[in-house]
Amino acid sequence: EGALIPWRGETSNVYSTISSVPRPDYQKTLLGTIPTLGKKEAIRALDSAVSAYNKGQGLWPTMKVVDRIACMEKFVEQMKTKRSEVVKLLMWEIGKTLPDSQKEFDRTVEYIYDTIEDYKQMDRNSAKFEKHDGVHAHIRRGPLGVVLCLGPYNYPLNETFALLIPALIMGNTAIFKPAKHGVLLISPLLEAFRDSFPKGVVNIIYGRGRTVAAPIMQTGKIDVLALIGNSKSANALQTQHPKSNRLRLVLGLEAKNPAIVLPDADLDLAIDECIAGTTSFNGQRCTALKVLYVHEAIVEEFNKRFSAKVDALKFGNPWEEGVKLTPLPEPDKPLYIQGLIDDAIEKGASIINTKGGETTENYIFPAVMFPVTKEMKVFQEEQFGPIIPIVPFSDIEEPLDDMAESNYGQQVSLFGRDVKTLAPLIDTLVNLVCRVNLNSSCQRGPDVYPFTGRKDSAVGTLSVHDALRSFSIRTFVASKDN
Ligand code: G3H
Repeated sequence: EGALIPWRGETSNVYSTISSVPRPDYQKTLLGTIPTLGKKEAIRALDSAVSAYNKGQGLWPTMKVVDRIACMEKFVEQMKTKRSEVVKLLMWEIGKTLPDSQKEFDRTVEYIYDTIEDYKQMDRNSAKFEKHDGVHAHIRRGPLGVVLCLGPYNYPLNETFALLIPALIMGNTAIFKPAKHGVLLISPLLEAFRDSFPKGVVNIIYGRGRTVAAPIMQTGKIDVLALIGNSKSANALQTQHPKSNRLRLVLGLEAKNPAIVLPDADLDLAIDECIAGTTSFNGQRCTALKVLYVHEAIVEEFNKRFSAKVDALKFGNPWEEGVKLTPLPEPDKPLYIQGLIDDAIEKGASIINTKGGETTENYIFPAVMFPVTKEMKVFQEEQFGPIIPIVPFSDIEEPLDDMAESNYGQQVSLFGRDVKTLAPLIDTLVNLVCRVNLNSSCQRGPDVYPFTGRKDSAVGTLSVHDALRSFSIRTFVASKDN
């Protein structure tokens, strides 16, 4: 409604992130409008999803696997024709660089194909019978019900679809709310949704969480809350559900992934990986490296070379050749980062790179802060932006203790060469986080690997293979030897 059916209600303007690159010809641009929806429209979207699911008896959850796959294939084929429009909006709406925007689109297409393949494999396996103690079982997987999906602004296409696509293919129906920034880029895909899926299977809502998502949760008709974003939003929505302790959750939340650079590390490699890990998409990734622990024996050399490389990164518009740093979609972010800088300086750290903290209207150049200590906010908070804390250590127990104390537990990057040192360390680290990256920065992909976290970082597991399981339940038909 609104994009495909004429919308006669109020609309909200969507402006570009690209507003303040210091050139007079790039002014803040009105990119388009979205319908301003309220509780009434949100509940209508919910009712549509509930009736399409029809307590598991609807057309979609009872559809043959091969037919559901055909719908998904039709969708992805149509989606591919919208690549340039979506990529353009990714750049303008959230300021993602051209190569990264293209990668986000292509990765999503690949994710859909891989999901289809994995689902076919799952279906083939479900044709097999098992037998234990004279009981034959035909185990299959069935849908869970109605899913509310909310994606984040840093991957408004890819991560929203990483929830939505597996949820749909397993036979669930869904309501999804695009991220606040990155909302328009769903518009070129609306026709593909309409043409590919039966009515009511996919329902899109716009607006603030508390206005449109909370009333949906309050009805108690949502079976799965699937959200990638922050704990505050997840908790706020979860508690709205009258049976919140029975609600199924698939959540990708905050992280504070550290890098640990040991004294024998290949410094060039460690620096390059830490640059990518801290500055890619301006640090706005849950998998970004958010604190660098560098052994005191090498920290001086590391800081000198690392800071120079950060200063050499090019800032500009997302489509310009070689640009790595771009404007930030969240208008308050530079102020927040400046607050972290001020706090760290007050408590004894300095900015060690020349350009660190330079600000234009909605951008702040990455500030490399050293020496960072536990009392500083930048050590404690998930900064999700361009500020890089470096913590010197003398004993490996220091970063390990911090990781054990942390509320988060997604990934770690470990840089070193001596296998005898690395092996026992890896054994310890895998019990603190869910992925240990050896001599490389943290990342989610390749998407076939499990993507999850311990403690407050995640609930459930995403990835091609795991997400199908997160959005379904094992059921079986049993028969006895007679
Ligand atoms: O924001 C968190 C994303 O899942 C990061 O994904 O490692 O592919 O950039 P990425």
